[in-house]
Amino acid sequence: MTALRNTPITLIPDAAPFAIRAERASDVVAREALLDACFGDNRHTRTCQRLRDGRAPAEGLALSVVRQGRLVGTVRLWHVSAGGKPALMLGPLAVDGTCRGLGIGAALMDHALAVARARGHGAVILLGDAPYYARFGFTAGKTGALSLPGPFERDRLLGLELREGALDGAWGMIAPTGALLLRPKALRAKRARHVVPQAA
Ligand SMILES: CC(C)(COP(=O)(O)OP(=O)(O)OC[C@H]1O[C@@H](n2cnc3c(N)ncnc32)[C@H](O)[C@@H]1OP(=O)(O)O)[C@@H](O)C(=O)NCCC(=O)NCCS
Repeated sequence: MTALRNTPITLIPDAAPFAIRAERASDVVAREALLDACFGDNRHTRTCQRLRDGRAPAEGLALSVVRQGRLVGTVRLWHVSAGGKPALMLGPLAVDGTCRGLGIGAALMDHALAVARARGHGAVILLGDAPYYARFGFTAGKTGALSLPGPFERDRLLGLELREGALDGAWGMIAPTGALLLRPKALRAKRARHVVPQAA
């Protein structure tokens, strides 16, 4: 005879599950709205945006978090040359303000780094808050000789080696190397609309 489980289940809204999946074209409007809410309208003028503008994210590394049918998280990683060393630049990472502190950011970071490692990438770089990213292993230990194409705060430039030594001797400018989506002329026109460069 099969015993029936009679355990009461309490439905706690905060405990609603979430799923991490590859970003879809239909996510873009919600993703952009989430990024505007998290980083403000001038986010397109930030230095890191210059590494993303007109480029495709790395294969398999544009991720969305969906919770109760709504996009609540996003992260993308981009091919760069870190002073000659191939690497990924991570960002922007964002979680909807109504869903923070539930572990979504950590799950998204863990997933993105696992995918990057499985795909054979050697290193990830980002510009962000060291107290947050330290939990995933990011440090400024091997990024001190790297620069970005615009203003940035040195102590926010962090790196993580997925393969030991991948950032050894990394020196010089971080430059985008991902597949081009926009022709140079269209890219210049886009940049002209956002003329004031800002840190981060
Ligand atoms: C940063 C962010 C993605 C974290 O998402 P999240 O789903 O709330 O993250 P988690 O639930 O996995 O982790 C929450 C923990 O991170 C801490 N945390 C969040 N942002 C932090 C920051 N900037 N610096 C240090 N710690 C931070 C929280 O205090 C919390 O700490 P606790 O575990 O000790 O309680 C989210 O707060 C966000 O989108 N912020 C706005 C955009 C942003 O700043 N993105 C990049 C960060 S540089």
